[in-house]
Amino acid sequence: MKKGFIFDLDGVIVDTAHFHYNSWRKTAEQLGFELTIQHNEKLKGVSRIESLNRILDWAQKEVSQDTFQQLMFEKNEDYLRQVVQMTASDILPGVFNILNKLKSKGYGIALGSASKNAPLILEKVGLSSFFNVIVDGNRVIKAKPDPEVFIVAAQQLGVINSQCVVFEDAEAGIEAANTAGMISVGLGNSDNLEHAKYVFQSFESIELTFLEQLTT
Ligand code: BG6
Ligand code: MG
Repeated sequence: MKKGFIFDLDGVIVDTAHFHYNSWRKTAEQLGFELTIQHNEKLKGVSRIESLNRILDWAQKEVSQDTFQQLMFEKNEDYLRQVVQMTASDILPGVFNILNKLKSKGYGIALGSASKNAPLILEKVGLSSFFNVIVDGNRVIKAKPDPEVFIVAAQQLGVINSQCVVFEDAEAGIEAANTAGMISVGLGNSDNLEHAKYVFQSFESIELTFLEQLTT
């Protein structure tokens, strides 16, 4: 049966969490609130709108709709100033190798990301051509932990959900993959990924044969 491999972007393919953190910290500062690295953990995998909602909640601040839009715009401009500097050296360890192997075997490869900046980031690091399908924050309405992004990716790959393996670094993404009936593989610290079916520190410790055996 046809197999599909769906990759989250931020924290799986590239480590952009610190760029998001740098930018959201400036937003929080304007709101008189100090955003810590622990707060940032809770923003991983979360859409831009929901991230700002959470920061406003933590800061116990309310803003007008116009200010909300302006804060999101400024955050993204600041984030993009960092993104445009990205190169292939920002690709996380083992990613290029696994993409190459999956591609050479002819498996369907998709991106399933909450980020509206996903196509630009893939282009900056030179990985766009590996992906048969890109489903990003511009293409879906419901943010993770809703499974929409992965379900759309599987449909576009033409692979049934149970034959899809999802790579994720965030709890919200693992939940989305599990809800979609896909095989969730967490990357990073197992403390944050307790609901993942499998957890690895990085792609460097994942064998292709292991991935091939996950689906029947
Ligand atoms: C996710 C990140 O991939 O994308 C989140 O983990 C981010 O931190 C979200 O907020 C939306 O990204 P963007 O690039 O559209 O602001
Ligand atoms: Mg992520």
